[in-house]
Amino acid sequence: MSSPLLTEATRIARDFDYPAAEVQRGVAEYIRQSNEGLAKENTTLSQIPTFVTAVPNGTEKGLYLAVDLGGTNFRVCSVQLHGDTTFSLTQSKIMIPRELMASGTSKDLFTFLARQIEAFLRIHHNEHFEAHQRRRRDGNEEEDLFDLGFTFSFPVRQHGINSGTLIRWTKGFNIPDAVGHDVCALLQSAIDDLDLPVRVAALVNDTVGTLMARSYTSPGETGTLLGAIFGTGTNGAYVEKLENISKLQSMKDAHYDTHTGEMIINAEWGSFDNQLGVLPCTVYDRDLDADSNNPGIQMFEKRVSGMFLGEILRRALLDLHNNASVGLFKSSTTSKVSVPSDSLFYRQWGLDTSLLSIVEADTTKEMKDIKVALKDHLNIENASDEDCQAVKILTHAIGKRAARLSAVPLAAILIHTGKLNTDDIVDVGVDGSVVEYYPNFEGHLRDALREVPEVGPAGEKKVRIGISKDGSGVGAALIALVASKDETMHAP
Ligand code: GLC
Repeated sequence: MSSPLLTEATRIARDFDYPAAEVQRGVAEYIRQSNEGLAKENTTLSQIPTFVTAVPNGTEKGLYLAVDLGGTNFRVCSVQLHGDTTFSLTQSKIMIPRELMASGTSKDLFTFLARQIEAFLRIHHNEHFEAHQRRRRDGNEEEDLFDLGFTFSFPVRQHGINSGTLIRWTKGFNIPDAVGHDVCALLQSAIDDLDLPVRVAALVNDTVGTLMARSYTSPGETGTLLGAIFGTGTNGAYVEKLENISKLQSMKDAHYDTHTGEMIINAEWGSFDNQLGVLPCTVYDRDLDADSNNPGIQMFEKRVSGMFLGEILRRALLDLHNNASVGLFKSSTTSKVSVPSDSLFYRQWGLDTSLLSIVEADTTKEMKDIKVALKDHLNIENASDEDCQAVKILTHAIGKRAARLSAVPLAAILIHTGKLNTDDIVDVGVDGSVVEYYPNFEGHLRDALREVPEVGPAGEKKVRIGISKDGSGVGAALIALVASKDETMHAP
């Protein structure tokens, strides 16, 4: 190989190495920060008590509504739980207008959400809707409301199963007047303004939904330990012993049922090690953070999740492009590559993470998919083989680091909960575009897991990882079910 371009690409790629010793250091620090988060408030790992104290076993039944706000789309669905580990789901998906995500007021956003729920009900459950309106007209007080699980995938301080105040926005959302407010109340009030037959019964993080959905669809003797998302953002929720959540004692307004002796904790691991004690940090990580709308926050997420991997790659490639002596995407005697001045390549967040999956998946000599993707995504035409090779080298390095980093919280939670001490399988439910589409994400993650001495090859073998598709919809329905049956979980 060794043209100046490939030599330089390889040198930069090396900055993304995340060797075994660093994985181990990360795990030890994760365990320390997670214990701190269980003991007190306002820590870097939030370790949020969710007030969900039991996981399902597959026999749950009923019809529930669920909505999901947490990425670029808003999803509304109704879920019929058949009670035999299966379900049917009807859903609609709407892209959230950018101005509602980052400039409007919370009223604008929640009114938009309620309108989508109304449209969904009219299309899919119109009889229910009309019956409700008839009752209203006739002055009939009797209510027959849909219980709705609200998947809201941002850090929220929960007070009960159906209430919680927003701590901060993540993943590009920024509507300051919502911070500190109860997001369930905001949604309920927008729903009531439209007079919809819907009661917001449960507030759910997508990771908790994923965990619940996985337990419902593949119940086993030991249950599911962890639900994790590797998508636009990254985060995990796991089953913790109540006695370990010492900060619960000081939460006087907390209402929950204690008979299982357990509660699901939403770790909010996207903000693991915000102080950068152990996380790797290249110049691209540093600049991405400095130019983001929340510098110093979500530092783990900024190295692992879909919202950021494309931007890390773009910055590294731009470096090679601007470096005159190596000249990525610069015309030569053999190629007439062109990057138009309005190419997304020059724009912050312009490179979508799906490009990484395409690049990594193309193992052919001609690299045709890479060339097509460079044209489709960035309008870069006639990239040379060497350009594509350089893109591959960096993509591989960035994707592999993300996957190896993802082993850190997983190993830490396995060790902390002592789940590897028996012969049982440990079940983990995952969802999100990165784990689903980036080739061999799980393979790299498992390699790193084995390198942690307390896990080792024997421990890694016990871990069963399964995609929990539509987890947040089904999971939210399951939590709405639990919540509608158990009044003790509600905040007063
Ligand atoms: C971000 C959110 C978190 C969510 C995750 C995955 O990290 O803060 O609540 O679970 O993204 O969507």
